[in-house]
Amino acid sequence: MQKKIAILKGDGIGVEVVEQSLRVLEAIAIKYDHNFIMEEALIGASAIFDSGDPLPESTINLCKSSDAILLGAIGDPSFDNNPNATVRPEQGLLALRKTLGLFANVRPVKLYSDLSHLSPLKEHILKGVDFIIYRELTGGIYFGEKKKESNSSSDLCIYHDYEIERIALLAFKEAERRNNKLCLIDKANVLESSRLWRTVIQKIALEFPQVEVSYLFVDNAAMQMILNPSQFDVIVTSNMFGDIISDEASVLGGSLGLLPSASYGEQYRLYEPVHGSYPQAAGKDIANPLATILSTAIMLRDFDMLQEADDIENAVALSISKGYVTSDLHKSCGIKCSDVGSFIAQQILAKSAINLS
Ligand code: IPM
Ligand code: MG
Repeated sequence: MQKKIAILKGDGIGVEVVEQSLRVLEAIAIKYDHNFIMEEALIGASAIFDSGDPLPESTINLCKSSDAILLGAIGDPSFDNNPNATVRPEQGLLALRKTLGLFANVRPVKLYSDLSHLSPLKEHILKGVDFIIYRELTGGIYFGEKKKESNSSSDLCIYHDYEIERIALLAFKEAERRNNKLCLIDKANVLESSRLWRTVIQKIALEFPQVEVSYLFVDNAAMQMILNPSQFDVIVTSNMFGDIISDEASVLGGSLGLLPSASYGEQYRLYEPVHGSYPQAAGKDIANPLATILSTAIMLRDFDMLQEADDIENAVALSISKGYVTSDLHKSCGIKCSDVGSFIAQQILAKSAINLS
């Protein structure tokens, strides 16, 4: 099969983690005789330093002409600490999501039992944790009108019913494929926009009578995520609440470096790890590449390359069970980001990887 993949390494550790995914894709291409045409483009701080624009036209064009987009991470501390910066790396990612209409961000949370000792939570609380977050990605407070006046600033949180409907539909369908449980996280006791979420969810629920719907206010949800995370199955939520809750969920498994994500629109698909650009680690070859490699597996599954995706996930599970992982997962083991990439690529090429489970 031939597929064109836009490669946006972005900033910080984005560069080195995506490089490991490229090695994994090369291994898959060899093993299964696929032709992955991979072209790179700039986004975020690296694009600003290059041209002043966090999302150059050439990057948008590459993404639009590709079957999928693989992205590393965005962000640079030289902008974070400057509230007056007129252009920011994150604008590149937000504009890309908006331009491509990537309204549904899907973040699966699965834990590896070999890593339960790294979790901030006790082992018995982690038992059975396996859920998936459907985060709305192109609306809400992220994209509402922004105003900056001399002594006040504001960000409008606006949702239209169709924006809620389309992600809710995907989340309900996912609930049907899983355990028929869906939880809406909102702040309907305070926010008008959250009350619209409830209205729309209740309307769509009529089409899915077998799905049991529950509701949690986001403050309570943040607490429940720590007290009893195994109660969740499919979560659907707005852009801002999804951003916050997914970072919280990501560390249940012991490291932010493990959580993959996929973003879908009507036409385009983008795959990226949930973690950020971790500038302190950039260029040191110490970042955990697994979240990006797992995002790559989701991409292949969406290409209908099911065995290929399984191969990657099995090789990742093996690297974890063998302790062949970066120092966030195994302190002072000395294993580098690129070592993990080599290990996974080799496992894919080794015959034995085929039957791992
Ligand atoms: C994420 C990130 C982004 C977001 C940032 C980098 C703009 O935190 O994908 O979760 O807030 O959506
Ligand atoms: Mg985030």
